[in-house]
Amino acid sequence: MKRSMFLGSILLVCLAGLATQAFADLTSLRGAAPVAGDEPPPPELQRVINDKENIDRTFKEQPPLVPHDNEKYTISLTDNKCLECHMKQPGKDEAKSVEMGESHFMDRDGNKLDHPSSRRYFCNQCHVPQIDAPPLVGNDFKSVAAK
Ligand code: HEC
Ligand code: HEC
Repeated sequence: MKRSMFLGSILLVCLAGLATQAFADLTSLRGAAPVAGDEPPPPELQRVINDKENIDRTFKEQPPLVPHDNEKYTISLTDNKCLECHMKQPGKDEAKSVEMGESHFMDRDGNKLDHPSSRRYFCNQCHVPQIDAPPLVGNDFKSVAAK
């Protein structure tokens, strides 16, 4: 047992030596060019569809896409900005905009809750904003609502 460990460690040292040899001359395909630091995305990637009409759903049961910018709407342990508009506030008759569906107020056993379900707390897990970009290749796809 001891002997095999000894032989094993000799083999490891040799392999390590070989590896250093093999990689000694390796240069990056990038050459000497340094990696640039983090840069903000180019403007063409920032054209988020904002306050246009609601976007037709592609298929039934699809979480609707967010037709507005949502960059500044924080969702944290104590604060969920989305709820300020998408849920009726205490003392008010209506939500400021289209209210979340009933499914958002149900627990996993289908019981009705008087508050949004924790399963629906992280809105942007399902609802995502869109970039205003025309399709690269023309197509005649029609979403469910447009049929
Ligand atoms: C200041 C109010 C406000 C806040 C905050 C807000 N929204 Fe909205 N949202 C709207 C309005 C108004 C509409 C209706 C369409 C429009 O005018 O943009 C809308 C539409 C939507 C829709 C489309 C609904 C449909 O049936 O097509 C979704 C989904 C949505 N918002 C999700 C979100 C999410 C997720 C957040 C948080 C990241 C959020 N909203 C925060 C005002 C708000
Ligand atoms: C697990 C995925 C999921 C999460 C998380 C989620 N939603 Fe939804 N949402 C859906 C689906 C699916 C629909 C469409 C069917 C329905 O109304 O249940 C929907 C519908 C909506 C609608 C449109 C309702 C209508 O009648 O047109 C709004 C507004 C909305 N969600 C807002 C929110 C907000 C705000 C949050 C966060 C507090 C949130 N959702 C979290 C999946 C989700």
